[in-house]
Amino acid sequence: MTDLIDELEALEREGREAISGARDAAALEAARVRLLGRKDGRLTAILRRLGDLSPEERPRVGAAANRVKEVLTGLLEARAVEVEGGAAQAAGIDPTLPGRRPWRGARHPVTQVMDEIYAIFRSLGFTRARGPEAETDWYNFTALNTPLDHPAADMHDTFYLAPGVLLRSHTSPVQIRTMQAYRPPIRIIAPGMVYRRDPFDASHAPGFDQLEGLVVDEGVSLVDLKATLAEFARRLFGPEARVRFRPSFFPFTEPSAEVDVSCFLCGAKGCPACKGTGWMEIMGAGMVDPAVFEAVGYDPERYTGFAFGMGPGRIALQRYGIPDIRLLYESDVRFLEQFS
Ligand code: PHE
Repeated sequence: MTDLIDELEALEREGREAISGARDAAALEAARVRLLGRKDGRLTAILRRLGDLSPEERPRVGAAANRVKEVLTGLLEARAVEVEGGAAQAAGIDPTLPGRRPWRGARHPVTQVMDEIYAIFRSLGFTRARGPEAETDWYNFTALNTPLDHPAADMHDTFYLAPGVLLRSHTSPVQIRTMQAYRPPIRIIAPGMVYRRDPFDASHAPGFDQLEGLVVDEGVSLVDLKATLAEFARRLFGPEARVRFRPSFFPFTEPSAEVDVSCFLCGAKGCPACKGTGWMEIMGAGMVDPAVFEAVGYDPERYTGFAFGMGPGRIALQRYGIPDIRLLYESDVRFLEQFS
């Protein structure tokens, strides 16, 4: 047994010398293999002979072997850092400088809000529908009970691509396309880009995201609309959130409402974000106008429904306190990184 203890001490001594004498990473690795290599290393050779010892002797030698292994491992690691630093210095690199921060990707804040909204409506039984961004004026206006001489259809608000063809100014034409393609019951949300001839300033953009909702069935009432949107608000803004309906007008809904949510920044007490009112406007909504059902060939005596439309970008501005809508479009990494 004393033989083995002597050998371990010799191994430690020689190991110390070999390690401190290694001039580069390759020499250090060679020393590691020679000393501690699992298959043919010196320590392994000693450990193999533990079996020859009596059960009383074994633990002492085992403990000594472990200690030598730890000592040499620590020295190897420390020397590796030194050798690397030397190599870096030789190459003109200063390894003591702080590293460059790796760039961390993040989902765009509007995408984050959209994804949350999808999850909420999916759990309420809605599916997602899509429609084209280039539309005819029939889908964008006429079928939605909006005569082409209505102010909303005016050249000043809408980008026309050709006579009768335009960039959709809202996602409501997806209501029409969905009802043409399917019979009730219908329960969809329709997200997508819409376009308006607005100046690009702090609160307007000529293209932005909207998210439309449509529910049609027998016996759908204003109560269903209010309950759905109240539940939506609680899930998106928190259990304290309440909604308020203000009478409004849209050609394709009757009655129509602007829907406010209690300000989630100040708990409805009144703050700059809600302009002291305690409420923030988040969407337009209403009961589907019978004229819309007629345009798609639904029997307005049999079916009723509700629709709503919101701007996820605007909700992102409110939620994150973003002061200028243009920040959402600039792809500035310094801005986007904050949302990771
Ligand atoms: N389409 C309307 C808009 O863009 C929003 C809306 C959708 C209102 C559905 C009522 C029902 O302003």
